[in-house]
Amino acid sequence: MTESEKLILAPMDGLTDTYARELLTAIGGYDLCVTEFLRVTDSLFPARVFYRHFPELKPALNHEAHHCISRTKSGTPIFLQLLGSDNNAMAENAAKAVLLGAEGIDLNFGCPAKTVNRKDGGASLLKYPERIYQLLDSVRQAVPKHIPVTAKMRLGYDDQALAHDNAMAIQDAGADWVTIHARTKKDGYRPPAYWDTLLPISELLNIPVIANGEVWSVEDYFNCRERSACKSVMLGRGAMVTPDLARQIKYALAKEPIKPLEWGSVCSLLERLYQLMISNPDLHDKYVAPRLKLWVKWLMPNYTQAEEIFNSLKRIKDPYQAIQLIKMSDK
Ligand SMILES: Cc1cc2nc3c(=O)[nH]c(=O)nc-3n(C[C@H](O)[C@H](O)[C@H](O)COP(=O)(O)O)c2cc1C
Repeated sequence: MTESEKLILAPMDGLTDTYARELLTAIGGYDLCVTEFLRVTDSLFPARVFYRHFPELKPALNHEAHHCISRTKSGTPIFLQLLGSDNNAMAENAAKAVLLGAEGIDLNFGCPAKTVNRKDGGASLLKYPERIYQLLDSVRQAVPKHIPVTAKMRLGYDDQALAHDNAMAIQDAGADWVTIHARTKKDGYRPPAYWDTLLPISELLNIPVIANGEVWSVEDYFNCRERSACKSVMLGRGAMVTPDLARQIKYALAKEPIKPLEWGSVCSLLERLYQLMISNPDLHDKYVAPRLKLWVKWLMPNYTQAEEIFNSLKRIKDPYQAIQLIKMSDK
């Protein structure tokens, strides 16, 4: 593995929360996580908003010495993702997050949600490379030099015409790297991901380009790398379907035999998720069963056992009954 050959866990709103970050990075293989987006409007958030969104935040004892500790329990660094379009508010919130201990700031230029785009955030900014430059430049100037500032973009809004301009704007404003979800906003999440289009962009830029989109397996990972010429890859939905995907990829890179996670271990993972949730006094009981169901649903393409229990699980509201049903499926 070379230094820049990173595997990054994607920000996924409602999926890669603090629990999923803890559980997935404990399995291994990830070099970095990015939080779900935190939407910034025009004001500076109080500290509690950052802590609620990013509970792993811990003030660095000595930022100058790069002594950051906002990591998952297994030690994987986490960057905070911000989404917004107000230069000052984004800069102020980024600076505050860093004071609270964030190890890096990622800016979202890819979210396709109508509610976000109507208010000029996420992918809608891809229509204006100059605004992307200004936003990133404001954030870059507001945080200390040793804190990475990165961006995540799609190939464009309706089409790919501005892909190079947007990537260049991100580089020129001083980003440490850019992650590109290889689809436009118009493409939504429809396969394919256009990995080949990342190649000319990565050749044009001096900063690393991280490839993202449609990597569901070890085979997809190698195809994506070959076609995009990107060394680092961000894993999104594939990480939910195959919780050990990053570890499988790391084993493949090391040419070691891969032993995919068995259903029994997946059940232990879900039990750990249950334990983490019920031990959080701030989390309402009503969120526990739906959260378990959601992950079981994501597991269905990969595990027949998940498919077998899903219909019964769907009807259960009580968290304890839900986890019992999951545990019994391993008998
Ligand atoms: C439910 C869901 C929530 C997402 N939330 C975010 C987000 O908060 N920030 C972001 O940059 N991308 C978000 N994404 C996009 C993913 O990070 C990723 O770019 C996309 O899913 C493509 O990668 P994949 O094909 O490996 O899933 C989200 C995707 C999904 C499916």
